[in-house]
Amino acid sequence: LDNGLMRTPPMGWLAWERFRCDIDCQNDPYNCISEQLFMDMADRLSEDGWKELGYVYVNIDDCWSSKDRDAQGRLQPDPKRFPRGIPHLAQYVHDRGLKLGIYGDMGTLTCGGYPGTTLDKIETDAQTFADWGIDMLKLDGCYSNSSYQEQGYPMMSKALNATGRPIGYSCSWPAYQGGLPPKVNYTLLGQICNLWRNYDDIQDSWDSVMGIVDWFFDNQDALQPAAAPGQWNDPDMLIIGDFSLSLDQSRAQMALWSIMAAPLFMSNDLRTISSAARSVLQNKAVISINQDPLGIQGRRLLKEKSGIQVFQRPLSKGASALVFFSRRSDMPYRYTTSLKTLGYQPGVFEVFDVFSEQRLPELKDSTQFTVSINPSGVVMWYIYPAADRWKEAEF
Ligand code: DGJ
Repeated sequence: LDNGLMRTPPMGWLAWERFRCDIDCQNDPYNCISEQLFMDMADRLSEDGWKELGYVYVNIDDCWSSKDRDAQGRLQPDPKRFPRGIPHLAQYVHDRGLKLGIYGDMGTLTCGGYPGTTLDKIETDAQTFADWGIDMLKLDGCYSNSSYQEQGYPMMSKALNATGRPIGYSCSWPAYQGGLPPKVNYTLLGQICNLWRNYDDIQDSWDSVMGIVDWFFDNQDALQPAAAPGQWNDPDMLIIGDFSLSLDQSRAQMALWSIMAAPLFMSNDLRTISSAARSVLQNKAVISINQDPLGIQGRRLLKEKSGIQVFQRPLSKGASALVFFSRRSDMPYRYTTSLKTLGYQPGVFEVFDVFSEQRLPELKDSTQFTVSINPSGVVMWYIYPAADRWKEAEF
């Protein structure tokens, strides 16, 4: 969507995967969906080094609203859990140099059973969000059907634009239509949405991450060309810092989401996150690969019988990123190849290893090299032509 927003994949925090629809503020005040939770996360994003790296969105998901619209037919937050209202929260977030996202549903109800946006309410809701100072809308697709969605998603895009407030627009539409052409029209999506969910919800498990990775790369011919500045495929949230991923798996999710030019919305508890998880999420080299200004989504190059997979993303200034990923479960695997074998042009290349944060010796395209890849782990390289000797690695 050419609204000037999200020229690189948006980054920030989104409540859903970690905090779900916990509305029990009586018994679970620290974790329930309430203004306090979002204020806490805004504090952490602005004070713990996240904001400077680009993590600027603080996003509300389902279960924020009251079960009823107000007397004027507008959505309103649950009065107990958001006692000071959304404009107050938006102000709090903006005062810290961050942006506030909210959630709606193109249908009669949200997935959690809260009021949805029916066709006749699209303009009202867009205007309400703009009046509140909202910066991004995720529009879900529960309690709806395909003809309803076909009308509603483009209408909301127009309505948001008509408010005059820049509001990033995340569409769950394709995820409800199977995610693939011909049912899904990615040309149209690129025109009306800044990002879109293509596939299933992520859960806090490695299996879930792998299911998503396989689906996106198995379907890369349909999906990869759809991404560009202002329009991104969204494989869903980062679960790094939650309960299920090892350090190697955390690096793998971060690496593969960056190859995919995916939005980086963390869904974790930034108040208690471990320093190991934080250092994966705050790795400057992997973030700069994710945020590359060319905005070309990467692809899976190889799926070896050994369980090693190789991914590549072209980057600006003739650079590229490579990921060597092991699906094995035995021990570190020594994988031998050459840049030439991976399709690189003749030449000499500089290599920066993203997670060890080391420059490696210069590499000729034809030179065989060996990387040692941990089980369910990655080795990620940032590569650029050595002819650019003037250009030092910036990390
Ligand atoms: C389905 C979406 O895909 C999830 O990301 C989340 O927003 C839930 N609905 C909320 O009910």
